[in-house]
Amino acid sequence: MIAYPNRFADKVIVVTGAASGIGAATARRLAAEGAALVLADLNAEGLAAMADDLTRAGASVRTRTTDVAQEDEVAALIALAVDAHGRLDVLVSNAGIGHYGLAPDITAEQWHRVMAVDVDSVFFGAKHAIPHLRATGGNIVNTCSISGLYGDYGLVAYNTAKGAVANMTRNLAIDHAPEGVRINAVCPGGVDTPMLRRVLDRWPEEYERLIPMQRPAQPDEIAGAITFLASADASYITGHLLVVDGGVTAATGQPNFDRMFRSR
Ligand SMILES: NC(=O)c1ccc[n+]([C@@H]2O[C@H](COP(=O)([O-])OP(=O)(O)OC[C@H]3O[C@@H](n4cnc5c(N)ncnc54)[C@H](O)[C@@H]3O)[C@@H](O)[C@H]2O)c1
Repeated sequence: MIAYPNRFADKVIVVTGAASGIGAATARRLAAEGAALVLADLNAEGLAAMADDLTRAGASVRTRTTDVAQEDEVAALIALAVDAHGRLDVLVSNAGIGHYGLAPDITAEQWHRVMAVDVDSVFFGAKHAIPHLRATGGNIVNTCSISGLYGDYGLVAYNTAKGAVANMTRNLAIDHAPEGVRINAVCPGGVDTPMLRRVLDRWPEEYERLIPMQRPAQPDEIAGAITFLASADASYITGHLLVVDGGVTAATGQPNFDRMFRSR
């Protein structure tokens, strides 16, 4: 059993997309480090199950079923945290959706939903959290993706949305650095969560073949990076896009010469 430091005692932290995957792992890690949590997700049942688990383990947890694509719902989520605890220290804007499809095949509705859930949510979170983070010297961690830094085959909407999150993170960081508010993002590669399971179950060998570390990340490995950025250990880091990808983006994308020559 790992003994974590207690970096978030007395800190109030909102996590979106907390019912599953990276958000759930982040909530568990933050709770283990003493944070009071306000968790949000569209999935009310999953959220209630998470809250039960964490409360039984002794954590302070409140929940709000929230569609992060709706500004009034995000505003109400932040208000819940501040009303309950009188402060807000960290927002983890993590909820997001993927969408596979080529430009000619995507409907306007599908396009707008990806932008709303992945981009608008991050903006609404920042808009409503920053006034409170000014008071606490708090920070935001956005879940971006390596898909926000480079192109993926078949992911035009997701690439566009995560590219926007990457550059929004940079803008927010410089606008609010003078106020003592830090804004960073994590950029995971493939992570073993329900979002990626459909792919991992069908083509596991593609992950082994193309990722230098030969496996997807576990959600805990992304949660560790998020909690680092949210903690005082990262007190001079802002506007940073922390890549956590098992080495994928260290490669040029050229063929694997080593494997080619060895197979001769
Ligand atoms: N899994 C990966 O390979 C991977 C890689 C890079 C980045 N990411 C990003 O990580 C974040 C978390 O994804 P995950 O892999 O944990 O996926 P996941 O599907 O396991 O979890 C996402 C959670 O977000 C919630 N959610 C979806 N739409 C919502 C909405 N409108 N309002 C509130 N909650 C909503 C879902 O109900 C779910 O609980 C996303 O932003 C995703 O883009 C994932």
